[in-house]
Amino acid sequence: MAIIGIVAVDRNGAIGKGGHLPWHYSADLKFFKQQTTGNACLMGYRTWLTLKKPLPGRLNVVLTRRADTEPRESVVWLRDRQSALSLKNYLKCDLFVIGGAQVFGAFLEEIERWVVTEVPLAVEGADTFMPAGFLEGFSAYDTRRLEDDLKVTFYERTR
Ligand SMILES: NC(=O)c1ccc[n+]([C@@H]2O[C@H](COP(=O)([O-])OP(=O)(O)OC[C@H]3O[C@@H](n4cnc5c(N)ncnc54)[C@H](OP(=O)(O)O)[C@@H]3O)[C@@H](O)[C@H]2O)c1
Repeated sequence: MAIIGIVAVDRNGAIGKGGHLPWHYSADLKFFKQQTTGNACLMGYRTWLTLKKPLPGRLNVVLTRRADTEPRESVVWLRDRQSALSLKNYLKCDLFVIGGAQVFGAFLEEIERWVVTEVPLAVEGADTFMPAGFLEGFSAYDTRRLEDDLKVTFYERTR
């Protein structure tokens, strides 16, 4: 029942470009699915827009201040950070914070573990980056290699 950040970053800490993921690695998507299925995924509205449909097998929790959201199966719309933290108290599963940068920034203090995929690219023209120092106070406790030269590091909070 932890709050876990999960992200794929390039060599410069970039995570997005033009409202999309700047790469397509099926190995990482598969890994993301394995890690998050059966749990809740918290995302910002811009990240929600990148999905074609709610992430299957997961509670999709979307943060937005918009008033015109439609009810959707497996989607909970929340208007503020505190509502997400209140919901978390009633979950019997992990809450994965899945982005984007705004939402990662809003939950930096609450995230207890990070799962970070390092992508072997330096994306030109990237416009969305991880908050500086997001891994400060964390230590690596495990790593895993995925296909396509991807490296995953698992971090836990040490202070
Ligand atoms: N590489 C990765 O692992 C990864 C993961 C996720 C996303 N991404 C990329 O990151 C980019 C999107 O990131 P982003 O930072 O621009 O946007 P985002 O965090 O996905 O969404 C921002 C929106 O979420 C809502 N929001 C954020 N904080 C809120 C709060 N405290 N209370 C209420 N609503 C809140 C607002 O929606 P409203 O404006 O509707 O109110 C805000 O405009 C895309 O390029 C995406 O592909 C990459």
